[in-house]
Amino acid sequence: MSEAISERIVLAARPQGAPRVTDVRLERLPLSAIGDGEILLQTRYLSLDPYMRGRMDDRKSYSPPTPVGGVMEGEIIARVVQSRHPGFAVGENVAGRLGWLTHTISDGTGLTKLDGRFEPITTALGVLGMPGLTAYAGLLEIGKPQPGETVVVAAATGPVGSLVGQIARIKGARAVGIAGGPDKCAYALDTLGFDAVIDHRSPTFADDLAAACPNGIDVYFELVGGAVWQAVLPLLNEFARVPLCGLIAEYNAPSAAAADRLPATMRAVLSRSLTLRGFIVREFWGQRPTFLDEVRAWIDEGRVRFREDNVHGLANAPAAFIGMLEGKNFGKLIVAVDDAER
Ligand SMILES: NC(=O)c1ccc[n+]([C@@H]2O[C@H](COP(=O)([O-])OP(=O)(O)OC[C@H]3O[C@@H](n4cnc5c(N)ncnc54)[C@H](OP(=O)(O)O)[C@@H]3O)[C@@H](O)[C@H]2O)c1
Repeated sequence: MSEAISERIVLAARPQGAPRVTDVRLERLPLSAIGDGEILLQTRYLSLDPYMRGRMDDRKSYSPPTPVGGVMEGEIIARVVQSRHPGFAVGENVAGRLGWLTHTISDGTGLTKLDGRFEPITTALGVLGMPGLTAYAGLLEIGKPQPGETVVVAAATGPVGSLVGQIARIKGARAVGIAGGPDKCAYALDTLGFDAVIDHRSPTFADDLAAACPNGIDVYFELVGGAVWQAVLPLLNEFARVPLCGLIAEYNAPSAAAADRLPATMRAVLSRSLTLRGFIVREFWGQRPTFLDEVRAWIDEGRVRFREDNVHGLANAPAAFIGMLEGKNFGKLIVAVDDAER
């Protein structure tokens, strides 16, 4: 067996504020031959997700930080290219959280085999993967949208926000999306079917949002924080539900800036009996089979649409990741790592 080379992107330095491409570096590492019970995996696709920004900081969180020098964390779809494991055959496709790398050796721990439901296969990283389950479970378990209610979500063209809006409509609610720029707003309105879409980059954003929500907001699926949260807060109705899922506007900010806004938020939570409930998707991992059945059926019926934004080559992952934090992605951001996928 010839020796395989693994290219991998490691954390070179902890970012100060917004990450820079020099905060990571590409390394090449020879892999030893696989042993009994092991497989050699070749990465086909790497998912880039906002949570990875948190792993770059040395802060207490729900998961430990990536060590400096460690491989950047991330979920991949990989092909088994060699196997001495009875449970995995050459040619099978698997998904797992193996990081930003081209090849790796695994004993199969934590890998999920991908069957024909994942069509195209990249859906395993987006609408039928972790982001999709986040939208599905967070909205249905915490947001609990009722027919006629108003559901608001930002990052409305991304994998989480787009599915939140579409499920809200399936459940009979009115979906108001927030997105950055005219192209994303047009897509959310015309293709995803949001009832109204507001551009958060507009100088009249807060007024536009108020006008689009004449009956207030019953469910606000929080993905961004920052100025969007400031505009949403006055519009929340009594007993509104706020699944608190992400705060991407704050990810590059020093924590003191976020703390300044806390007292006003807490007053509103108290005086309007709001339910603000944080969650991490792994809490709902048990719902994966139902989620897969239901969302797959909605896709097949044309009731759910999704969009992917493809970047080619592992070396281009850092710039794409940094761009996502600034809203430069348009749809689920996926890196085609294997030359054959380009
Ligand atoms: N709790 C969990 O378990 C969990 C799981 C998955 C994801 N999440 C969170 O869900 C959120 C969305 O994730 P995703 O994968 O669907 O990302 P995404 O939508 O593909 O990408 C992030 C988007 O956020 C928007 N954005 C960035 N900065 C913003 C700002 N200052 N104000 C308003 N919008 C801003 C941009 O869209 P626009 O150009 O439209 O503004 C950007 O494209 C993230 O906060 C993520 O951390 C949480």
